Amino acid sequence: MVDTCVGKTRLRLLQGDITQQDTEAIVNAANSSLMGGGGVDGAIHRAGGPQILEECKEIVARQGRLPTGEAVITGGGRLPARYVIHTVGPIWQDGRHGEPELLRNAYYNSLALAKKHGIRSLSFPSISTGAYRFPIDQAARIALTAVRDFLQEHEFAEVRFVLFSEKDLRVYEEAWEEVSSS
Ligand code: APR
Repeated sequence: MVDTCVGKTRLRLLQGDITQQDTEAIVNAANSSLMGGGGVDGAIHRAGGPQILEECKEIVARQGRLPTGEAVITGGGRLPARYVIHTVGPIWQDGRHGEPELLRNAYYNSLALAKKHGIRSLSFPSISTGAYRFPIDQAARIALTAVRDFLQEHEFAEVRFVLFSEKDLRVYEEAWEEVSSS
């Protein structure tokens, strides 16, 4: 577990289930269709209920599929969180198809959208490191660097990384050791 500050923002790395987090918003590792899926996406739609999918359908009807690295926002339905920010991480190929930059964009655009909506606290999952097979040690460094950089310019009350397994939490803790001292 890491519990520290970046500027005036509390930054926490913890093991848990993102659908149970009481931050104002949680971030969903969605796919471009926004029609739900497995992993985090499936868990959030299951816990949040059908209203989230209804709002996603309206967004897709209005603006089409969500490009990789972009983010949109819906209500939280039955979740403790008031909002869900849906973003699409890159599918890992070989690291030479813009995956690092697209992953950074997913974090950065989620933070920017939260800021735009006056959201004070949000929780991230480990985007792209499940079905999208992004190597987690690289993804953790990209994620934590993106968040650290954003928090140097903007302030939240709290940003959380919610890792599903102890193993993933340890990878993020090691990555934070490096990122926070670089
Ligand atoms: N809370 C926190 N983290 C979770 C949870 C949960 N309830 N469930 C899964 N995770 C973790 C996984 O262990 C993994 O480390 O989230 C991370 C991201 O894994 P995925 O959910 O598979 O997301 P991703 O790799 O970005 O793939 C996205 O999978 O579910 C589909 O619709 C989704 O097509 C999209 C793709």
